[in-house]
Amino acid sequence: MDAAEQIAIRRGTVADRAFVRDLGKRVAATSISALRPVALVSVEDAFERLTHFVYARRHELVIAHAGERRLGFLLLLLDLPDEVTNGDQAFVAYMAVVPEEQGRGIGAALIAGAEDLARAFGLPYLSLMVTEDNVAAQRLYARAGLVTERRMLTKPL
Ligand SMILES: CC(C)(COP(=O)(O)OP(=O)(O)OC[C@H]1O[C@@H](n2cnc3c(N)ncnc32)[C@H](O)[C@@H]1OP(=O)(O)O)[C@@H](O)C(=O)NCCC(=O)NCCS
Repeated sequence: MDAAEQIAIRRGTVADRAFVRDLGKRVAATSISALRPVALVSVEDAFERLTHFVYARRHELVIAHAGERRLGFLLLLLDLPDEVTNGDQAFVAYMAVVPEEQGRGIGAALIAGAEDLARAFGLPYLSLMVTEDNVAAQRLYARAGLVTERRMLTKPL
């Protein structure tokens, strides 16, 4: 990306869904854990199913862009309360940055955009799930102030 190009954040529309689909499928394998070897096609299908789930609920799409060029997205669920307290929260269903532009703060800008939206909707928490092996995502979330609240445990049988 040209150093002079400014990264900006905007709310997405239906017109951004093809970008979400293409980028999501391109990077979906990043979330596979070492515990579950799987065919890539299953992971792509799972991503597509996730987007259908999100689009059918109250949600926001956050887009990072430089001019006309889309650089990343974040899918935010607004109606998925915390399962323990039933309290309101904004839940990041998925986010991704185009591989050529990763590591430049675009992910951080998307999270900041999601926080702004969550506050605007009066939602007091931002939550998400992340695969233990996904180092880049873990670093991004830690830097953004997200801390581990619960753990999902798995045993291969
Ligand atoms: C996770 C992701 C969205 C981060 O986006 P990004 O634009 O690279 O985010 P940032 O540049 O703001 O920050 C990324 C952090 O990870 C680090 N990082 C980036 N690529 C890395 C890599 N391959 N290995 C280790 N760390 C990496 C960066 O240095 C930065 O950490 P720092 O702030 O401590 O220096 C992006 O890597 C991505 O799209 N991954 C594929 C999809 C994915 O895993 N989504 C998350 C699902 S929960």
